[in-house]
Amino acid sequence: MNHGDVHKFPPGFLWGTATSPTQVEGHIENEWTHFTAQDGGHCRIACDHYHRYPEDVEWMSELGMNAYRFGIEWSRLQAAPFAPLNQNELAHYVDLLERLKAKNITPMVVLHHFSNPPWINSIGGWTNAATIPAFVDYVQKLVAALKDKVFLWNTFNEPDTYACVAYLLGGFPPQRKWKLGQFRKVISHMARAHVEASRILQRDGIFAGRKPEVGIAKNWTFFHAYKKFSPWDRATAFGCHYTFNKFVLDAFLGGWRRRASTFIGLNYYGRVRFHHFRAMIPASGAPVKTLKEFGFVCDDMVERYPEGLEKILPYLQQKFRLPIFITEHGSASADENFRARDLHENLTALHRAMAGGADVRGFFYWSLLDNFEWQFGYTKKFGLLAVDFADEKLPRTPKPLVEVYAKICRDNSIPVSPPV
Ligand code: BGC
Repeated sequence: MNHGDVHKFPPGFLWGTATSPTQVEGHIENEWTHFTAQDGGHCRIACDHYHRYPEDVEWMSELGMNAYRFGIEWSRLQAAPFAPLNQNELAHYVDLLERLKAKNITPMVVLHHFSNPPWINSIGGWTNAATIPAFVDYVQKLVAALKDKVFLWNTFNEPDTYACVAYLLGGFPPQRKWKLGQFRKVISHMARAHVEASRILQRDGIFAGRKPEVGIAKNWTFFHAYKKFSPWDRATAFGCHYTFNKFVLDAFLGGWRRRASTFIGLNYYGRVRFHHFRAMIPASGAPVKTLKEFGFVCDDMVERYPEGLEKILPYLQQKFRLPIFITEHGSASADENFRARDLHENLTALHRAMAGGADVRGFFYWSLLDNFEWQFGYTKKFGLLAVDFADEKLPRTPKPLVEVYAKICRDNSIPVSPPV
């Protein structure tokens, strides 16, 4: 609805931020622990969210958020396959959940976000089918422990990105390149694990008499040719779309498998255009300044394409007839005006898609904090709160975008006019 100068969102709409354990917690033992990022950074302390989460929850509450999407780190909970859950680590997450509850912040728990316990990595990670029952066992134990505290379960975060960057592009551990067979195996094993985990979550995870919500978070990137008539660039774009969008959606949600999900999580950042086979995005090394000369609008990662949200939301809605959460959107840039415009444009597109019938239930800004951005280390800053990594107390400082987003969360609406 348009109430004069604002676009209202439906009552109960979730507004929050998203983080992941490896990127914010610190003190983790997984495949990232000894990984050195391009800037020389590592995740061994990160934002120390592991110890500073009470302060971070206070921030969320102060900023008027009513939701938080975060991961529970498998490697903390199980020391070996089929082992009982580590009770101290469980108590840690229970405390986080209780603090959120005390502030009326709805949790969405992510079960897998680009990391595995060392004993899973040593058997080949998700290329090995034996990982499926181990994961399902973990989920079964975790849901038994947390069922009265969590209603929104997000099994896998961006299986497409994980399998692509770890097995095709070599950016994430185990840093394999062009192993298409392994890419496909990872996707199909994760899809099977999602179906089994979902069965357990819906059987054992009854929350206040209701079946919980279960879904994956799919990264949706549009892949286009820079020159519409270049056959090679079109073929590259089509190949990427086919592999990362179509194949992955079919694996998780095609046919009878759709019944394993009660929602779709959509991580949406923008698009990638190809020129002479090269991906024209900063994340692939193209400088933002050069891209600007080509007429591209980019943050420090990808091209922005807010109108894409108005295309993908109705598509997903019609194809799967499931409610949708925008489980991630954000931008990395030192220019806060750019970020405010990007947020406004994407939320306006979201609102339009909802007015056109898309059933979207919530939006999670990526991210609460500047954090460890995987292979890029600390150079890509997505946070609403800046973190001073040079100071051992890791102080958080609100950036200008905080005020903009906090007002949106509190008012449950966005201004019609763009920021100046
Ligand atoms: C991932 C996050 C990542 C963000 C920004 C998403 O692909 O889920 O872990 O930090 O995008 O690149």
